[in-house]
Amino acid sequence: IMNRAVILGVESSCDETAVAWVDECGNVLNQKLESQIAIHQKFGGVVPEVASRSHFDVIDRLVEELLKSSHPENVKAVAATRGPGLVGPLIVGASYASGLAVGWGLPSIGVHHLRGHLASALLSDDGKSEESLKSRAGRIFPSLVLLVSGGHTQVLWVNEKLQAKKFAETADDAAGECFDKSAKLMGLAYPGGPAIEAIASLLQSKDEARAREIYKKLPKPKSAEGFSFAGLKTAIRLQLEKDPSQRQDPAFCWAVQEAIAESLCLGLGRAIKNIGDVEVKNLVFCGGVSANKRLRHRVGQWAKEENLDLIVPPLKYCTDNAAMIAAAAWVQGESLNMTDIKARLSLDLA
Ligand code: KG4
Ligand code: ZN
Repeated sequence: IMNRAVILGVESSCDETAVAWVDECGNVLNQKLESQIAIHQKFGGVVPEVASRSHFDVIDRLVEELLKSSHPENVKAVAATRGPGLVGPLIVGASYASGLAVGWGLPSIGVHHLRGHLASALLSDDGKSEESLKSRAGRIFPSLVLLVSGGHTQVLWVNEKLQAKKFAETADDAAGECFDKSAKLMGLAYPGGPAIEAIASLLQSKDEARAREIYKKLPKPKSAEGFSFAGLKTAIRLQLEKDPSQRQDPAFCWAVQEAIAESLCLGLGRAIKNIGDVEVKNLVFCGGVSANKRLRHRVGQWAKEENLDLIVPPLKYCTDNAAMIAAAAWVQGESLNMTDIKARLSLDLA
């Protein structure tokens, strides 16, 4: 076990600097992650130039800490996110990773950030996996995928090399964005998803009927292709303007979370009709928003009705991290140039 091959993963596409060792069986040997949330909070959003500088300030220390606590013998490659994301932050992470690769005489592997989220579903939860990531990818994929993050809400058909074909996406906001903007209207700090989930979980049984009444008043997109969250966001804003006492009310947060869950399930239902003549066995639910327990449950229910097995990443690897980047590098098996940075990068070309 000790001599399994390992890849170093580096993630820096937005406001998280992260590095991790991942072995060929998807065990995360060690990881260091530093979020810049506190730095950006006073600006009310991520400031790209500030983000670049923060990545620059911490990445060296994170790698040093990682190396101090463990330096596997059998390191095979260094992988880093090459896009999509903020150009400055991507350049900082990928250049640093590229320097390490040159210094260690190892290949460098550029990884598409969304492919990282796809690969997060393959990571081991307990660090005891003995099955190679490639073999596990072959068991889980091809699969239907619901990928939901702060910037993306899409349904994909993904093969065992993590190559993806898009079937549906949001016409406007991403679901994570809907959580974040709703949270902002409620006076909650970024990221909004976990904040709304935490308040919703405080709902008491005496308030359940009221929560359901609020939920009924929120719009459910019916005719749109794919997903749409802009109408919901506007309805939430209008409701809160009418009755500001609902800000941070567990019943209101529960209703918002439920409306987003319903929207995702409706969108899945529409997407699956366009998939065509393929045998679908699994549904992978990934991306930062898949950390939400109620959403996992609702999407799981939907999958069950469609006779699909639901596969979700371990909770700790749903939001941005470096382990998923290393895992994707293990599976994609190609050495894509990591310094070819792209702010916008289609999965088809990556
Ligand atoms: O994948 P991710 O970490 O970064 C992007 O690539 O965008 O996703 C971040 C998004 C944010 O919108 C955040 O509010 C949302 O994921 N999120 C959640 C939860 N944890 C993170 N949304 C709902 N419930 C959660 N527990
Ligand atoms: Zn992400």
